[in-house]
Amino acid sequence: MDFHILFLLLPLLFQALLISSSTPADVLTQGSSLSVKRATTDVLVSRNGIFSAGFIPVGENAFSFAVWFTISSDPTIIWMANRDRPVNGRGSKLSLTKTGNLVLLDAGRVVLWSTGTSNMSAVKLWLEDTGNLVLRTSELSKSFTLWESFESPTDTLLPQQKLTMDTNLVSSKSQTNYSTGYYKLFWNDENILSLLFQGPDRQISSVYWPLPWLKTFENGRSSYNNSKTAVLNLTGVFSSSDDLSFLATDYGVELYRRLTLDPDGNLRLYSFDMKSRMWVVTWQAFPQPCNIHGICGPNSFCTYDRNFGGRCSCLQGFKMRNYQDWFYGCEPEVKWNNSNETDGFVRVANAEFYGYDRGYFPNRTLNQCEEVCLGIPVCKGFQFKFDGSVYNCYPKIQLLNGHRASSFSGDVYIRVPKVNLSFYEKPNVKETELGCPLESVMLTRAYKKPHGNATLKVLVWVSVVLAAVELVCVTIVLCFLNLSRNGKVDKKAQGYILAATRFQQFTYTELRKATRGFREEIGSGAGGTVYKGVLSDGRVAAIKRLREAHLGDAEFLAEISSIGRLNHMNLIEMWGYCAQGKHRLLVYEYMEHGSLADNLNNANALDWEKRFAIAMGTSKGLAYLHEECLEWVLHCDVKPQNILLDSDYQAKVADFGLSKIQNRGESHNSSFSRIRGTRGYMAPEWVYNLPITSKVDVYSYGIVALELVTGRKPTGVIDSGGTTENAGRLVTWVREKVNGASTIEEWIEEIADPIMEGKFESGKVGVLVKVALQCVEEDKEARPTMRQVVEMLRCHDDD
Ligand SMILES: *[C@@H]1O[C@H](CO)[C@@H](O)[C@H](O)[C@H]1NC(C)=O
Ligand SMILES: *[C@@H]1O[C@H](CO)[C@@H](O)[C@H](O)[C@H]1NC(C)=O
Ligand SMILES: *[C@@H]1O[C@H](CO)[C@@H](O)[C@H](O)[C@H]1NC(C)=O
Ligand SMILES: *[C@@H]1O[C@H](CO)[C@@H](O)[C@H](O)[C@H]1NC(C)=O
Ligand SMILES: *[C@@H]1O[C@H](CO)[C@@H](O)[C@H](O)[C@H]1NC(C)=O
Ligand SMILES: *[C@@H]1O[C@H](CO)[C@@H](O)[C@H](O)[C@H]1NC(C)=O
Ligand SMILES: *[C@@H]1O[C@H](CO)[C@@H](O)[C@H](O)[C@H]1NC(C)=O
Ligand SMILES: *[C@@H]1O[C@H](CO)[C@@H](O)[C@H](O)[C@H]1NC(C)=O
Repeated sequence: MDFHILFLLLPLLFQALLISSSTPADVLTQGSSLSVKRATTDVLVSRNGIFSAGFIPVGENAFSFAVWFTISSDPTIIWMANRDRPVNGRGSKLSLTKTGNLVLLDAGRVVLWSTGTSNMSAVKLWLEDTGNLVLRTSELSKSFTLWESFESPTDTLLPQQKLTMDTNLVSSKSQTNYSTGYYKLFWNDENILSLLFQGPDRQISSVYWPLPWLKTFENGRSSYNNSKTAVLNLTGVFSSSDDLSFLATDYGVELYRRLTLDPDGNLRLYSFDMKSRMWVVTWQAFPQPCNIHGICGPNSFCTYDRNFGGRCSCLQGFKMRNYQDWFYGCEPEVKWNNSNETDGFVRVANAEFYGYDRGYFPNRTLNQCEEVCLGIPVCKGFQFKFDGSVYNCYPKIQLLNGHRASSFSGDVYIRVPKVNLSFYEKPNVKETELGCPLESVMLTRAYKKPHGNATLKVLVWVSVVLAAVELVCVTIVLCFLNLSRNGKVDKKAQGYILAATRFQQFTYTELRKATRGFREEIGSGAGGTVYKGVLSDGRVAAIKRLREAHLGDAEFLAEISSIGRLNHMNLIEMWGYCAQGKHRLLVYEYMEHGSLADNLNNANALDWEKRFAIAMGTSKGLAYLHEECLEWVLHCDVKPQNILLDSDYQAKVADFGLSKIQNRGESHNSSFSRIRGTRGYMAPEWVYNLPITSKVDVYSYGIVALELVTGRKPTGVIDSGGTTENAGRLVTWVREKVNGASTIEEWIEEIADPIMEGKFESGKVGVLVKVALQCVEEDKEARPTMRQVVEMLRCHDDD
C-alpha cells in the first residue's frame, strides 16, 4: 500500500525537485506559453509568493486560466480569463505571441480569449505583487501597460484595484462553479455603485442595493460626482465617488484583503488571517440574506433564523422548479389558467413580495383589492398593507423576492382557483435550507496579531511543501489541513461579533498542565475519559483523552477539522486538539450543568419547561449534524450522557463525529462495520445488520425524548440483558398507556415523570410524546427526519 503511494508520488517529487531548483517565474516572455498539460508547473508566481497564475481545473477535463491567492488553505481565485468557456485539458495553452498578443488557445486551435494587442515588441506578461496580471512593453525608453487583469475583474476586487465606470464585478454561479452567476456590482446611470440581480431566465432583473425603497441621500449616497471610481486600500478602507465608504472591522492594519461579490449576492470584504490561513469576513452589505433579491426565486418565501440562516420554502401547492438551484424558484404543482370568475385568494400573514406591482391603490377594502387583482388577467396576487390610517392595495404581476418574518405587518394574498382554496390554505412546513453561503456570516472584530508560537507546526510544513512542490500538492494537503474556522462564530449573539475562540493545537504538556496531570475526571465513554481543565488563558475546558487512536496524523487532522467546522448553538464547541506522538486529545468547552443523564437522576429535578427546551435544542443540534452542507455527520450514540447542559440549561450535543476517529483502523470499506451505540438507545438496524442512516439517531432521539417525559430509563430497572428489548419495553409501555386511555389528559397523567408533580403543559407533553413515538418506529422509513422533528416541535414552542 505505502509502496504504491510512493510509486505514484515519485514523478511528483521529481518535478518538485526540478522546480525547487529553479525559482518559479513571475514573468512570461514573448514567444513562450503556459501549457495546460503542465498545469502544475507552468505557473507564474508573483515575487512575494502570494499570487499565482496558471490553469486550474474547473470540471472534468476542463480548465480555466486564473490568478489565485496561493497561501490560503483553499486556493482563492481572484481573477479568471475564461470563466464561462473552460478549455480542454489536452493541448490548450496560454501564449504570448511574437506580435505581442496574449491568447488562450483551446486544444491548441481555437482562440477562446485574447487581449487583442498586436504589432508590439519587447512585451512581457508579469504577475505583480498586488495580484495584477500585466502585459507591458518595455522598449528602451517607452514602457507602458497594454493590458491588465485589474481592468477586467471577475468577482473580486483587490486592494488598489479601481472599480471604474468600465468595470464591474459579477458573482460566480456557486462556490464551486466559477461561471457567470446572477449578481452584478456596477455603476448605474446616476453614478451610484449598485447591486443588481439578474435571474436565470434573464427576464427578471432588479437592483437591491442601495436599498431601492430609499432615496439616494437616505442611503448615504450622492449622485453628483460622475467620476465613478471606487477603491479599497490595504488597511481596509473602501471609498467610492458616490460617497459610499466603509471600514473593515479590522481596519488600520495592512493585511491581504479582497472584496468579493459572492454567489449569494452579498458583497463581502474579507481579510486573510495568517494564523488560520483562512479568510474572515470583515464587512458585508447584507447581514440578513432575505433582503437580497432573487435568492429563493419566484413563488417562494425566504425566512431567516439566526440559528439556521436563510431558508427558502415554496408557496403551498408549489414545488421547486430545479432541485439543484433555488434561483429557479417554484412552480404550481397543478397548473391553472387565471380566470376572473373562478379564482379566489389565500392569505399568507406577515409576508411581503418586493417589486412587480401593477399600480398602487390606496385606501381599499380587502374586497375591493381582490376585485382589482381579478380585473388584471396577469395579476398573481396582491400585497395588502395597513399604513397607519388606511389599507393600501398593491397588485403583483410576479411573486418575487418573497420574505416572511413575524415582524412584518402586511399580508399577501395569492390568487388560486377557488375550488381548491382549502388545499392552498394548508400551511407549508417544508422549508429548505439555503446552501452554506447564505448562512449569515458573522463578522470578526478588531484584528489581533496572532500570538506567536501557537501556529500549527504542520502549517509550517505545508508552506515549505508549497514552496517546493507548487500546486501539485495544494489540493491534497488542503484536504486535510482545512482547519477552518469559517463557521466558528457565536451565533447566539446577534449582530457582528468576534469569532473569539480559536481552534488551535495544544501540546501534550499544555494539556497535562491544564488538567493538573489528568486529575479531575468528569466523565468517561466509549472513546476515552474526560477531564476538567483550565487552559492557560483561563478558559475552563473539558479535555477528552482518546483511549485508542488508530489514525495517522493526517487522517486524525482531517476528522478533527471537519468536527471543528461544525458550529451550532446546540452542539458542543471544540476548541482544539492535541496530536503528539501517540497522544490524541480533544479540547471542548466545559458545560456547567453536566449531562442530561446527571440531571435526570438528580433529586433537584428539571422542570417541564427545561425538559421541553432540551428536547427542542437536542433536535436542532442533531438536525444540523444531519443536514448541514459542510459535512454529513451521524452521531450514532445519542443518549442522555451525550447531551450536555450549559449554565442556562441549554442543551448541547456532545461526542459527535468521533465514531470514525476511534474505529477507523478496524473497518474496511464501511466506516460502520461494527455495532456502535449504547444499549437501550440503539435502533433495530444495528441489531439486524440493516443499512445505517441518519434514522438511527432519530430512533435514539425518540428514546431520549420519552425518557425526558417519563423519567424512566430505557435500560430499565429490570435488567433482562436483552438488546433492544429494554428500549422496546419503555416504548411499548408508553404506547399501551397512550392507546388505552380515553383522553390525552388521562394518559399524560399516567406516564409523566412523577417528580414534576403534575406541573407541565399537557399540550406540549402530548406533542413531544407523539413525535417521540414516531421516532421510535421499527421501520426506519416511518420515522421523521430530524429536521421534521424540529418543525413539529417548533410549532408548539411559544417563543
Ligand atoms: C457551471 O454552471 C454552468 C451553467 O449552469 C454549467 O453549464 C456548467 O456545466 C457548470 N460547471 C460545472 C463545473 O459544474
Ligand atoms: C501591424 O503591422 C502591419 C505591418 O506593419 C500592418 O499592416 C498592420 O496594419 C498593423 N496592425 C495594427 C493593428 O497596427
Ligand atoms: C487608506 O485610506 C485611509 C483613508 O483614506 C488612509 O488614512 C490610509 O492611510 C490609507 N492606507 C493606505 C495603506 O493607503
Ligand atoms: C469625485 O470622486 C473622486 C474619487 O473619489 C474624487 O477624487 C474627486 O475629488 C471627487 N470630485 C468631487 C468634485 O468631489
Ligand atoms: C390554459 O389556456 C391555454 C390557452 O389559452 C390552454 O391551451 C390550456 O389548456 C389552458 N390550461 C388549463 C389548465 O386550463
Ligand atoms: C371577466 O373577464 C371577462 C373577459 O376579460 C370580462 O368580459 C368580464 O366582464 C369579467 N368579469 C368580471 C366580473 O370582472
Ligand atoms: C378612505 O375611503 C373611505 C370610503 O371610500 C373614505 O370615507 C375615507 O375618508 C378614506 N380615507 C382616507 C384617509 O382617504
Ligand atoms: C383541484 O383539486 C382537484 C381535486 O383535488 C384536482 O383534481 C385538480 O387538479 C385541482 N385543480 C387545480 C387547478 O389545482
